[in-house]
Formats: sequence, C-alpha cells, structure tokens
Amino acid sequence: MHSSLVTFLLAFSALKIAAAAPHRPTGPRYLNSLAQDNGKLWFGTAADIPGTAEQTDKEYLRILENPKNFGEITPANMMKFMYTEPEQNVFNFTGGDYILDLAEKHGMRVRCHNLVWSSQLSDWVTSGTWTAATLTAVMKNHIQTLITHWGDRCYSWDVINEALAGDGTFSSSIWYDTIGPEYFPLAFQFAQEAVEQTGKDIKLYYNDYGLESPGNKTTAAYNLVRELQSRHIKIDGVGLESHFEVGGTPSIADQVAAKKGFLDLGIDVAITELDVRFVAAPYYTAAGEATQAQNYYDSVASCMEVGRGCIGVTVWDFDDKYSWVPSAFVGQGGADIYNDTLQRKPAYYAIAEALTGAACTVC
Ligand SMILES: *[C@@H]1O[C@H](CO)[C@@H](O)[C@H](O)[C@H]1NC(C)=O
Ligand SMILES: *[C@@H]1O[C@H](CO)[C@@H](O)[C@H](O)[C@H]1NC(C)=O
Ligand SMILES: *[C@@H]1O[C@H](CO)[C@@H](O)[C@H](O)[C@H]1NC(C)=O
Repeated sequence: MHSSLVTFLLAFSALKIAAAAPHRPTGPRYLNSLAQDNGKLWFGTAADIPGTAEQTDKEYLRILENPKNFGEITPANMMKFMYTEPEQNVFNFTGGDYILDLAEKHGMRVRCHNLVWSSQLSDWVTSGTWTAATLTAVMKNHIQTLITHWGDRCYSWDVINEALAGDGTFSSSIWYDTIGPEYFPLAFQFAQEAVEQTGKDIKLYYNDYGLESPGNKTTAAYNLVRELQSRHIKIDGVGLESHFEVGGTPSIADQVAAKKGFLDLGIDVAITELDVRFVAAPYYTAAGEATQAQNYYDSVASCMEVGRGCIGVTVWDFDDKYSWVPSAFVGQGGADIYNDTLQRKPAYYAIAEALTGAACTVC
C-alpha cells in the first residue's frame, strides 16, 4: 500500500476513536491553528499591556504569546487617543510599539485600534475650544500621523469607533457635535490619503457594537459604507464587536444575515471584541457555562458560515482574570473563554468545534 495512504488510514482510524470519545474533546485544540486551518486569517485577542498586571503574569503571557492560540492581537488601550497624543501634536508610540514588537516576534498580526472615538480622548481635546475647521485639523493630524508612523505593521486600522446610536443616528461626540456628520467621511478620506502616501496595504475599518443582527443600527452602518463608496473613499471592512450577554445573543441566522449585508457591499467583516458576560453571579455553574458555550459557538459559527469574507474572530480579551467587564458593568462577569485561574472553559471547546464545522458537544 502507498505509504501516504497508510498514513491517511491510520489518521482516519485515530479520528474515529477521537470522535467516539464522550463530551469535552481531550487534549488542547489550539484556536488560532484551527482558525487558520479553516480559512480564517486569525483567532485573536485583545491585550491590555504594557503597564498592567498582565505584563508580569507568566501564565497569562505564556497563553498570549503562543501563536497556536492567537494569530492576532488588538491593543485594548495603548493606541487610543489619550495614550498616543497626550498633548497636542506630541505623540507617544511606546505602548503601541510594545504590542507590535510582541506580536511580530510571534508572527501575529495587529488590528490597530483606534483613531477617532468619543471616549478615552486627551483632556486637551475634550476641554478645547474648537471650530469645525480647527477640530478637523486635529483629527486629520492624529489620523495621518499614526497611520504613517506604523505603516503596514498594522494589518488594519479602526478609523472610526462606535459612531452610531441604537436608532441608527450619529451619537453625540466632540467630533460629531463640532464637525457634524461630515466628520465620518472626512476621517476615512484622511486615512485613505495617509495609506496612499505609504504605498502599503493597510485596511481601513469602521468598528461598532450592535451591528451583529439586522436592525436600524445595522442598516445605518450599511448606509455609511455605501456613502463612502459613492464618494470613492476607501473602506475595507466593518468590525462587529459582539459584546454579548449570556442567553441574550442573536441567533446564528441573524448573525449570518447581518454579516452578509456587509459582504454584499464588497467589504470584509471581522468579529472584533467577542465576549459573553453573565449579567449576575454565579458565573461558573455547569448550566451557565453550557449556555455561554452555545452563545460563543453561534457567533463563531456565523463567521464560518459566511466564508472568507468574515476574516477572523477576536475575543476581548481571553480570560476572566483580567476582563474589562467587572469594572464596566457592576456585578457582571465571567465573560471570557478562560476562567479566573486561566483555565479553559466550555466556551473555549465550543469555539474549537465551531471553527471545524462540528456540532457543539459542550453546549
Ligand atoms: C509614553 O507611553 C508609555 C506607555 O503608556 C508611558 O509609560 C510613558 O510614560 C509615556 N511617555 C510620556 C513621555 O508620557
Ligand atoms: C427603526 O426605524 C423605523 C423606520 O425608520 C422606525 O419606525 C422604528 O421606530 C425604528 N426602531 C427603533 C427600535 O428605533
Ligand atoms: C477554573 O477552571 C478549573 C479547571 O476547569 C477549575 O478547576 C476551577 O474551579 C475553575 N475556577 C472557577 C472559579 O470555576
């Protein structure tokens, strides 16, 4: 018998034995390896380093820095306005460089995050006295300096973060309130100019929550993409944050439909900030973790179902030990795929199953 056929048959019988084993799949199944083997650019995570406890937590770093686990890192904070331009036209690239260096050392990509948002702005921006013209100049300088500085070390930039309210109108922000709705196409136009100057392939994204299922906000986001496209302004994708509550996530069908709406416009989508939080304790019951596993499964399965246009999945971040949730939502938690002692939860195995197209055995 041909030796490769022998290998195949041996592998096949091993597979059958594995498939017969009950419940939780045995042995580690590495999520980024599975994602990349199944047509995605990555399975990634946000990371809030440097300057935090994570930075010196050996076990946290051991998981983070394994490229079989993660093929992408999003800086949770370090590229936001207050850190990158703390004084007007005085830029600080230290925190961003730290993430980029770490990612590159391990062959991971970085979604650079973000350029224009209502929050985590520097005091000189929020307390300044601006006209539309002077604030537009501030926005342009910030966007173009960061894109130019980091170039294609950034796979993509979230040019604008969270511009829309639930009803699909623009949210109040210093940008919208001062410049008006034109701030949106202007930001992408400035970003496009900087990308063209570099001559590099740097993707430009709009990133928001509430775009994970059909509805007024999602329709408004489709219209923003169409508006940019009608003006020949570059937009490559939309990030669907996917911050969910256990038992309260949209159905797979709704998540597929929302994604297809963006793909039909000829752009990519990515799941950019996935987490599924318990709105109240306890966070670690078997029933609760099974529901949470199903919720993670559905979201990742929707990304698989729409094909390569959903480029990858990023969690925010991977563990309950350092999750942003308890500080942002009082009394809520348990949102991540590793628990507070950095052990894998059922949701982890559910994602592995979704990435391989298997049914969920841990849900
Ligand atoms: C620049 O940012 C780094 C990382 O946040 C910080 O440690 C450092 O103090 C900052 N430098 C200045 C001059 O503010
Ligand atoms: C969605 O938009 C429709 C039509 O503009 C409006 O009638 C409806 O009230 C909106 N729904 C919500 C939840 O804002
Ligand atoms: C975290 O997971 C480990 C392994 O499953 C388990 O022994 C531990 O009890 C978990 N921690 C909590 C708080 O449930």
